[in-house]
Amino acid sequence: MLVASCVFFAAGCQGLPRGSAATGGGFEPGWDLGASATAAFGQHGMVASNDSLATAVGVDILRRGGNAVDAAVAIAFALAVTHPEAGNIGGGGFMLVRLADGSTAALDFRERAPAAATRDMFSRPGVPPSASTRGHLASGVPGAVAGMLAALERFGSVSREQAIAPAIALARAGFIVDTTFSRTIAGQRARIAPYAGASLFLPGGESVRPGTLFRQPDLARTLELISRDGAATFYRGPIAELIVAEMRRGHGLITAEDLASYRERWRAPLQTSYRGHTVIGMPPPSSGGIAVAASLNILEAFGDLPPFGTAQRAHLLLAAFQRAFIDRNELIGDPDAAPIPTELLTSKAYARRLARTIDPARATTTRAARAAVREGNETTHIAVADSFGNVVSLTTTINDSYGSGVFVEGAGFFLNDEMDDFASRPGAENADGIVAAEANAIAPGKVMLSSMAPTIVLDGDGRVLLAVGSRGGPRIITSVVQLIVNVVDHRMRLLDAMRAPRVHHVVSPDSVWFERGFAPAVLDSLGAMGYKLKPIRTDTLPYIGRVIAVARRGNGWEGVVDPRYSGSAAGQ
Ligand code: GLY
Repeated sequence: MLVASCVFFAAGCQGLPRGSAATGGGFEPGWDLGASATAAFGQHGMVASNDSLATAVGVDILRRGGNAVDAAVAIAFALAVTHPEAGNIGGGGFMLVRLADGSTAALDFRERAPAAATRDMFSRPGVPPSASTRGHLASGVPGAVAGMLAALERFGSVSREQAIAPAIALARAGFIVDTTFSRTIAGQRARIAPYAGASLFLPGGESVRPGTLFRQPDLARTLELISRDGAATFYRGPIAELIVAEMRRGHGLITAEDLASYRERWRAPLQTSYRGHTVIGMPPPSSGGIAVAASLNILEAFGDLPPFGTAQRAHLLLAAFQRAFIDRNELIGDPDAAPIPTELLTSKAYARRLARTIDPARATTTRAARAAVREGNETTHIAVADSFGNVVSLTTTINDSYGSGVFVEGAGFFLNDEMDDFASRPGAENADGIVAAEANAIAPGKVMLSSMAPTIVLDGDGRVLLAVGSRGGPRIITSVVQLIVNVVDHRMRLLDAMRAPRVHHVVSPDSVWFERGFAPAVLDSLGAMGYKLKPIRTDTLPYIGRVIAVARRGNGWEGVVDPRYSGSAAGQ
């Protein structure tokens, strides 16, 4: 944990040089990302997801009188069919719900380590470094089916059959492959090719081509069984048998007992404030809620933010992210395995202490960082607002794109590589001299740390202002914070808030990333402050985060999907 010592601020942290206004949205002339994108508007509700077919499923559910949870669950099952790089039934995630009566709920359907998992399973001699991300050892026990059906049972108004029917139809009748779908498969050819999904996704060794009608009969059958028999079929019935058979084929660890004992968990949502707004977030085992709250609390300690696009603003954001991530990496893990100091990490007093460690003129090195975790980049978010006043923010993942690559033969879906979200060598120094965190060490049945940050923001009157989330591993946290700051501090409209270029602090190794929309003078200033600027890789990762958000607009709703990636928002 960082030890606070303020030599720059006499009282509070109000002394940072800043401009006269926090507003802004004047992007650099070259920043044309999403310049022709539009926001969707809906008087009665809004749906946004990473795939337009899945979004259409959600809108249809709302139009038929379903509520936001019905729509979110139907979309999640549809994404398992139309967006299998991240949509899934072989992974897990987190759902945040705010109902019209003001009550909130948080659902943890994150994967868990199999009972046979061991602390050193990825660091033993002879185990290749890729074992935590590819192949059968990489998978945690999936939670998505249990989670979606539990949400539907608690808050849904449509039947299980009605919620899953659109996904079954998309799997059985098929859909036309688009360029994004084809390209993502081509990009993960090496991951997919060794396993049973190859014949479907890589016919003749090549990615399925745009324009092809893509049918998934095995997945359709799996979904029909889930529709008919519920979660039991997945965790104790014929689908469980197929998963266990797949594990045996590839020497994986998941057993029938692991599946039978899987339980989703309802948890108390985190609630913090930011400049008069209420921020509702996901508690551990996701680090998302704590890290978003901690970052915002540190920023709030500085009073008004410097204007958008200035070096001072970027410095503050980076310094806040760095401090939030140091604690995130060291102290957060499965709350059922060891206590997490959530209250401390989200308190305003602690944030003020951390804010005092920020030198207004210089970057701080990440000497205090003690953990480094590598995380996948591929996850998917769903945001829904309905006409009844309910809102859902749901993030789900199989970690890397197409998960571990392992495809459950006969059942038609990919398994996650979520075991990679554990710290695989706790206590040992990595190449950067960083010690991996004990709180996130592998143990049987334990939940691996996540960065997923489904978030709901209320305005000063307690009305929902935003439901937001992202994909992008740790960049989920920094992207969600920037979206909130852009709306709340800089008063940007949702589309501008989404388009605005982003920064990210990597923490370990001690470097920062920028999208290319910052003025050279800003980057020069930050370099002079001591930041190690790393232009982000433009081959595979040209952008930071892929956010999805719906926002209140008058008496209706606005929805925007990040122009950095696929998907659509649609209102009703
Ligand atoms: N697998 C990415 C995350 O949970 O943050």
